[in-house]
Amino acid sequence: MASHVEDSASLKDRTVVVTGGSSGIGRATCLHVAARGAAVVVHYRQNEAGAEETAEAIRAIGGEASIVQADLQSAADRESLVDICWQRHDRIDSWVHNAGADVLTGDAAKLSFQEKLDLLWAVDVRGTTDLARRVGDRMREQPSAGLPASMVFIGWDQAPHGMEGDAGMMFAPVKAAVMALSKSMAQTLAPDVRVNCVAPGWIRTAWGEVADEGWNRRAIDSSLLQRWGSPDDVAAAIAFLCSPAAAFINAQTLEVNGGWNRKP
Ligand SMILES: NC(=O)c1ccc[n+]([C@@H]2O[C@H](COP(=O)([O-])OP(=O)(O)OC[C@H]3O[C@@H](n4cnc5c(N)ncnc54)[C@H](OP(=O)(O)O)[C@@H]3O)[C@@H](O)[C@H]2O)c1
Repeated sequence: MASHVEDSASLKDRTVVVTGGSSGIGRATCLHVAARGAAVVVHYRQNEAGAEETAEAIRAIGGEASIVQADLQSAADRESLVDICWQRHDRIDSWVHNAGADVLTGDAAKLSFQEKLDLLWAVDVRGTTDLARRVGDRMREQPSAGLPASMVFIGWDQAPHGMEGDAGMMFAPVKAAVMALSKSMAQTLAPDVRVNCVAPGWIRTAWGEVADEGWNRRAIDSSLLQRWGSPDDVAAAIAFLCSPAAAFINAQTLEVNGGWNRKP
């Protein structure tokens, strides 16, 4: 009994692809699934050094990792990403759709509202939808491993409720679309593939590191646990959803935010 409980969290002999594994939540996810024994394909778009760093960190703990480049805005790249992953591995057990356009830091932060929305829509919604359809088809065709394959999407805890301002008006519709996609993919791909979504709250990634005191206070006060979330908090939830421990968890959205604070 004890060994069954222990084994259910393991990803030994499984392969996981994480899009956007070159930084932030994606990198943490790569490390969490590798720590559970999975071989990992680390996807990146332009941060090759970051992806290589993730892969090296996995190898340093005795894990297996390779990296692959693709721009999710490009149909040709999406197609070759799927081809390369299935050339490297006979079976992909879990695919984590984590990649998302960063419009808060770097050059993209200077774009207009409309340009940011277009970029988010192209990467997070159009790109992810097409990619997930391709991955779903392959997962249904691949040899069975006794358990369904799985996919995890990344939403946002505030998307269904709305948030004031430009950030709310661009991220809420985009991430709500991803959350809705996740539900429809679950209906489409069952019983061959389990599909779930993780909806993070305020997670201290690149943007959180440079957030001003007002946002810092707001992020802390938004959580019942009175702190920012970390990439590890989100990664642990994703790794759980990929594992056999979550074998009967399907078509769900799991908020990772410490509990939204409704207290005055
Ligand atoms: N941080 C938060 O508070 C928070 C809250 C809710 C949801 N999320 C979501 O969680 C996910 C990860 O966020 P994060 O904060 O960890 O972001 P991040 O550090 O900026 O990572 C984003 C990843 O997406 C990749 N990416 C960006 N544009 C791409 C494109 N056109 N094609 C392919 N890959 C692309 C990046 O690759 P390169 O750098 O290699 O180009 C990077 O690996 C995103 O979907 C984000 O929207 C984050």
